[in-house]
Amino acid sequence: MSPSRPRIVAGNWKMHGSRALLRALVPAVQQGLPAAGRCQVVFCPPAVYLGELAGLLQHPRCAVGGQDVSAHVSGAYTGELAAAMLLESGCRYAIVGHSERRRYHGESSELVAAKATAALSAGLLPIICIGETLADRESGRTWAVLSAQLTAVAELLQQPRASEIVLAYEPVWAIGTGRTATPEQAQDVHAQVRNWLQEQASAIGKPMLAGQLPILYGGSVKADNAAALMAQPDVDGALVGGASLQADEFIAICRSAD
Ligand code: PGA
Repeated sequence: MSPSRPRIVAGNWKMHGSRALLRALVPAVQQGLPAAGRCQVVFCPPAVYLGELAGLLQHPRCAVGGQDVSAHVSGAYTGELAAAMLLESGCRYAIVGHSERRRYHGESSELVAAKATAALSAGLLPIICIGETLADRESGRTWAVLSAQLTAVAELLQQPRASEIVLAYEPVWAIGTGRTATPEQAQDVHAQVRNWLQEQASAIGKPMLAGQLPILYGGSVKADNAAALMAQPDVDGALVGGASLQADEFIAICRSAD
């Protein structure tokens, strides 16, 4: 982690949890989290709990995030949530392009870019997820896949609020499998993403941007592997699934990022 970049640990509950879990876990995490620390902690529960979550937050380092956001401002889009609605429900962040959205909902990189643009324009911080499958990795296509996903969102770097973009590298083969990328594998990809950012940012005359954007790692992050991952120079935090549903695990991960 770099001393200058923001550090973020975001807990993506996916379609897990309940109101009872929300009411038990959120206060427990806030209690276990030292007031002073480097990382921002983001809870991303299912959307129906966002409003209640916002009311439970008391810790200066905790924030609310949506798991997805619509590419549209408003309109006849049944089931979708506009960025302005997420903001109104207390969100500061929105995850976009999670591999489960790409895979089960057929979201293309272009749609992901449109969602990220909608989020950023409305005042949210988009957490843009990229990641390769095991087949991609085994066939040596990791960077080809990741760079295509990144290219689709490159235009966002031109936005006035581009410095608020967050990237998350989540190898699909590591999500929910218990098979984490090694710290070296994560750093290797994060450094490539940082180089890509450097090229893009320089090309548009914003060279500082590349060093400013946090790149989170996600995929089976747990209390016992978080510190080694966060110790890598280009890993600026974590996007946590399963372990964010257990207060002790999640607190320990947040503390590793402090
Ligand atoms: P996991 O999920 O921590 O349960 O592997 C990570 C994610 O999908 O963001």
